[in-house]
Amino acid sequence: MSLDSHLQILNSHRFSIAPMMDCTDKHYRFMMRQITTRGLLYTEMIVAQALHYSKNINKLLDFHSSEHPISLQIGGDNPKLLSEAAKLGEEWGYDEINLNIGCPSPRVQSGNFGACLMKDPEHVAQCIDEISKHCNLPITVKHRIGVDDFDSYQILIDFVDKLSNAGAKRFSIHARKAWLKGLNPKENRTVPPLNYERVIQLKKDRPNIKIELNGGIKTIEECLKALEIFDGSMVGRAAYEHPLIWKDVDEMIYGDKRSSTKASTVLIGMLPYAEYHLKNNGKLWDIAKHLLKLVEGVPGARSWRKDLGASSQNKEAKIEVLEKAANKLIEAGL
Ligand SMILES: Cc1cc2nc3c(=O)[nH]c(=O)nc-3n(C[C@H](O)[C@H](O)[C@H](O)COP(=O)(O)O)c2cc1C
Repeated sequence: MSLDSHLQILNSHRFSIAPMMDCTDKHYRFMMRQITTRGLLYTEMIVAQALHYSKNINKLLDFHSSEHPISLQIGGDNPKLLSEAAKLGEEWGYDEINLNIGCPSPRVQSGNFGACLMKDPEHVAQCIDEISKHCNLPITVKHRIGVDDFDSYQILIDFVDKLSNAGAKRFSIHARKAWLKGLNPKENRTVPPLNYERVIQLKKDRPNIKIELNGGIKTIEECLKALEIFDGSMVGRAAYEHPLIWKDVDEMIYGDKRSSTKASTVLIGMLPYAEYHLKNNGKLWDIAKHLLKLVEGVPGARSWRKDLGASSQNKEAKIEVLEKAANKLIEAGL
C-alpha cells in the first residue's frame, strides 16, 4: 500500500457511516462509495459466534474492493471467538476491527455482549488483548456513554482508559446511555437524551485518545462542528435515510475537489455492479431497496420511488429496470 493511501485510511474516520444491522450491507456501502470515496464505512455487526459456525463465510464477509476504507464490526464476549473473527477479518482485507459494546438488543444481551459489556471493562480489555495477539489491524470500540445505573462520567472515563491501555485505538461514542430493561433498541436510540457534554469532557481530559462522536448528527455542517473538538463524526440514520445529502463530504470534510454527485450518477455508477450481482443469482431488490432513498423532496420523487420499488421487487427483475430509473432521473436533471 502506498504512503498516500495509508494516510488516507488513517484520516478516514473524520466522517464515517455507522454500523447498522439490515441497512449497511455491502450493496448500501457500494452505493455510498459513489457518494463519498473518503469516509470510513462500517459493516453491520457480525456476531463472532455466527462466523465461527458459518458454512458460508463469504456471505458474511464479502465486500467490494471499492469499499475501502472499511471497518469490520464484530460482536461477542468470548475472547477466543472474537480473535478468530478479527483474524478472518484481516485475512479478508478489512482495514480495522471494531468491537460492538453499544448494542442494547435483547438478543445481544442474552448472549451477554453488546452494551451490557460496558459493565465489565476488565473483560472487554481481555477481549482486546486476545484479539491483538492474533490480528494486526487497529482495534476500535463503539459504545454508549453508560448503561442502566452504570452512568457517570467517572465510569465512562475509566472504561475508555482501561480499553485504551489494552490497545484500543479509537472510540466511537454514541452520546446517550442505554436502558437494557424496558426500552427496545429503537427506543434506546431516541428516549435516553443525547449528552454531548459528557463526551466533550472526555475529549478535553484525554486529548490523545481518538474519539468519534456519534448520535443525532444530521448534516455535514454538524459534522464540521463536531470535528472542531473530536477526531471523527459518525452518522447513522441520517446517512441511511438521506444518502445524497452527504455528496459534498469529500470536499467539505477532506478538502478534495470533486464534481458534485447527482442521483443519476450514483445510479449509473451502480449499473455494472448490479449486473454482476444479477449474474451471480442475486436479486435486483437487494440493491434497489437502498437506491429508493436517493430521490426525495423534489417533484416526481414519490412516483419515481413507487415505480422503482414495484418493478425491482419482481423476482425476475433485470438490469433494464435500473436503466429505466436512471434515464428518468437524467430527463428530470437529477
Ligand atoms: C437500523 C439500525 C441498526 C443498527 N445496528 C447497529 C449495529 O449493528 N452495530 C452498532 O454498533 N450500532 C448499530 N446501530 C446504532 C448506530 O450505529 C448509531 O449508533 C445510532 O443510530 C446513533 O447514531 P445516529 O443518531 O446518527 O443514527 C443501529 C442503528 C440503526 C438505526
